[in-house]
Amino acid sequence: MTQEQWTAVDRYFTDLLVPPDPALDRALQTSATAGLPPHNVSPNQGKLLLLLAQIQRARSILEIGTLGGYSTIWLARALPSDGRLITLEANPKHAEIARTNIAHAGLSDIVDLRLGKALSTLPQIAAEGHGPFDLIFIDADKPSNPEYFAWALKLSRRGSLIIADNVVRNGAVIDANSNDPSVHGVRRFNELLASEPRVSATAIQTVGSKGYDGFAIAIVTADE
Ligand code: SAH
Ligand code: DHB
Ligand code: MG
Repeated sequence: MTQEQWTAVDRYFTDLLVPPDPALDRALQTSATAGLPPHNVSPNQGKLLLLLAQIQRARSILEIGTLGGYSTIWLARALPSDGRLITLEANPKHAEIARTNIAHAGLSDIVDLRLGKALSTLPQIAAEGHGPFDLIFIDADKPSNPEYFAWALKLSRRGSLIIADNVVRNGAVIDANSNDPSVHGVRRFNELLASEPRVSATAIQTVGSKGYDGFAIAIVTADE
């Protein structure tokens, strides 16, 4: 199996199940034109995030890692009109592009984008009394995943859903001797999922237009 086949099959499902959408298409286009890294989730993965948020009947969502707002738009669309999504982004250029994309999608009233390193903005969000969130999507700098998981738990309730992107990293996740800080962060995160008694988790490997990677999905099974 090759990347070419994964991409072709991804496109087959996207063409069937993910109709073209002006706001989402624009988010991808402005992100690419501005030279943002192509690290947004794929269209099929965005749809998966939407479905998971809908299954969860989410009213409040926390996203760590906004980029151009592509996954943000998918997730925010699962929310009712009085729902709330807080998304955290450290890069001012990414944040600016995301803001225009979110506005263009008509989601500015629902989405609250916080500029700053997530490990600085997360304590502020907690201090402001936000949370518990119904769904938390972790998709920023991978070395910080263990800390993000601790914050996700802090900002959860029994039944909250925690999703993390990029937990396979082209298979590098199984290399215990890797000295890639991202692999290290993801492995530590996976180990925390395994040892934390307050969550029940699994991970699924994915292939597609974004290569070979995967999502971890955890449900919080206990209040604090
Ligand atoms: N969720 C997006 C992709 C996010 S890519 C999507 O699927 O569309 C990861 C993002 O995390 C980048 O925009 C990067 O600037 C941001 N990031 C990196 N380190 C961060 C940090 N410490 N705090 C907040 N955001 C960070
Ligand atoms: C990277 C980050 C992501 O969030 C992603 O989906 C793909 C790649 C990266 O940092 O390489
Ligand atoms: Mg990602």
